[in-house]
Amino acid sequence: MAKTKKPAKAESFKPGDYAQLIDELYFHNRKYYLEDDPEISDAEYDDLMRLLKAVEALHPDWVRPDSPSLKVGGEVREDFAEVKHDPPMMSLDNAMNVAELRAFHDRLVKAGLKKPVYHIEPKFDGLAIDLVYEDGVLVVGSTRGDGETGEDITHNVRTVANIPLRLMLEKPPKKLSVRGEVIIKLTDFQKLNEKQAKEGKKLFANPRNTAAGALRQQDSAEAKNKMLSFFPYTLAKLEDSKKRFAKEMRQQDTIWSSVFPALGFQTSTYHRTTDIEGVEKYYEEMITNRANVEYDLDGLVIKLNDTTEWENFGATTKAPRWAIALKFPARSGITKLEQVVYQVGRTGVVTPVAELTPINLGGVMVSRASLHNADEIERLDLHEGDYVEVVRSGDVIPKVVSAKPEKRAKGARKVKFLKKCPSCGNALEREDVFFRCVNSACPEMNEAFLQFFVSKNGLDIESLGSEWVAKLYQKKVIADYADLFAIKKDDLMQFEGMGEILAAKILQSIDARRKVTFPRLLTAVGIPNVGEHVASILAEHFDSPESLAKASLEELTNIHEIGPGTAASVQAWFADKTNSGRLKKLIKNGVEILREERKRVSDAFAGKTFVFTGTLTRFSRDDAEAEVKARGGRASSSVSKKTDFVVVGSDAGSKAQKASELGVKILSEAEFAAML
Ligand code: IVH
Repeated sequence: MAKTKKPAKAESFKPGDYAQLIDELYFHNRKYYLEDDPEISDAEYDDLMRLLKAVEALHPDWVRPDSPSLKVGGEVREDFAEVKHDPPMMSLDNAMNVAELRAFHDRLVKAGLKKPVYHIEPKFDGLAIDLVYEDGVLVVGSTRGDGETGEDITHNVRTVANIPLRLMLEKPPKKLSVRGEVIIKLTDFQKLNEKQAKEGKKLFANPRNTAAGALRQQDSAEAKNKMLSFFPYTLAKLEDSKKRFAKEMRQQDTIWSSVFPALGFQTSTYHRTTDIEGVEKYYEEMITNRANVEYDLDGLVIKLNDTTEWENFGATTKAPRWAIALKFPARSGITKLEQVVYQVGRTGVVTPVAELTPINLGGVMVSRASLHNADEIERLDLHEGDYVEVVRSGDVIPKVVSAKPEKRAKGARKVKFLKKCPSCGNALEREDVFFRCVNSACPEMNEAFLQFFVSKNGLDIESLGSEWVAKLYQKKVIADYADLFAIKKDDLMQFEGMGEILAAKILQSIDARRKVTFPRLLTAVGIPNVGEHVASILAEHFDSPESLAKASLEELTNIHEIGPGTAASVQAWFADKTNSGRLKKLIKNGVEILREERKRVSDAFAGKTFVFTGTLTRFSRDDAEAEVKARGGRASSSVSKKTDFVVVGSDAGSKAQKASELGVKILSEAEFAAML
């Protein structure tokens, strides 16, 4: 697409330029999502989007419901209106195996089906939604609810990257509804959890629940960052579009291959076959192949390809007769609990693990499964020697989901969680759902901790692998992480399998970490509740271990994002003499904490949160934020009710708009400079 002739500055935009800019963004969206052939870089796309937002900030009355800017999120809805589905969203009957698939086929043949053509689709394991388009523009997105009535979640649906806000048709139908499933791709889910882990936050359990939570967010920016994807599977309210796509609408496979893409939707793979044996063959293939699919699959959906047949076969009150969900064999099974063993983690948390009689779950031999914590053992009402149901989903660690009391031996004893640490015998202390060994000399905890300390998430001592650290600890070459920095070549050479080259490499990578930033060190020393994100916040307020150790509970909890739990664990950690002693020894052994020079000018902005948006002329964004911090204030990247000031530069976008909606004080750059 030739670039449109549009003004470079938002101020000079006329309504016609705005419409052209939207078209341009749509064009590039299509190139990116549907054709996989982008014409411009992500940065250029972002520039166009920024320009669009700047125009919309200047002309709020121009904003169209199909503006690509709505994809960015930030809209807040307090409660969700009801949406009546017309026609209702049906459900599907299940076939649990090939025999039940045959029964489905036989019923259709008996009811008069002559030459079947089956359309085989993935059964997405996500959330069904309905998208209503009027005159080609997405007007309502809703959840399935009970099938009759769902909830209006338009604000969240708009942020889903591959849901078009406008159908890509010259003459769109008056009304059309597209139904399909919202999912999170497995790679995206992994990214989400990596981010959670990095920030020291709780991991999401599975893609489906995370997607469900995302769709029900009040703030669409929260939905946006869950990286949702949408796959259509059917069309409804076809009145005048039926005529439009008369030919295509007769065949399900052409709906998938022609209609959905023409409307602007990405589709997933499907398969067509002319006999039930073909369905079976494909099913067997997919059972082995499901691990290679980019999202969770529940099974397959088998539909009659010829949609004119659908009316002939009709539906029960619940589900159509012309379709069936063919489930994959569960990756679960029942096996015997051999024993419960306990692992001590790096923070002393004791985790129970079930050792099982090995069982094949969907092609993988499983002999251990996590039991999580004491409450979980209680919930399962686990007894010694129980038969238990074990599930393996995705690449997640196998989990015991239930015990089978009917198969329990008479007189079997209940599994009782340990009272004492399996490694050092110290009495365990309860903390929420966890039992923790608080003996800082506990061998197993220290070993796990040292392994963390040298890992990527810790100090990242590259050439020192976890097995070597364990050996060094077991042979008492090191007692703690501080000792790592006093290791000599001879200490290493006494081990079998150690050579000159490896020893030199290890010493070199230890040396490479003798200078360490304070937040990095804080993360590495493993203070409970202090991950990378919390560590960086703490390091913004305290510049050394000594000053952090002296912080009062109140000082800590006054910091935004530091809750009482985190504050208490920071204090408890420093109060433990072993911990503070190790830190001292670390410095003595030649580790230097790099300080980022930050002069405190005043406390003028204490307790105030600033957000900068748009382009500033006198300051770089970093400098402006540093000025705020130097006065005891806080700089944030997103506007919320807790924001005190939004400083607006030129080309400011939705943040300025959100600030005015929330009644947050808006400052010009000049006003901000005057405050300084
Ligand atoms: S068609 C007219 N196709 O499964 C039949 N549903 O068990 C309506 N689902 O509520 C559904 N993948 O959430 C259909 N390829 C697919 C599907 C699919 C997943 C879900 C959908 C539906 C549920 C019924």
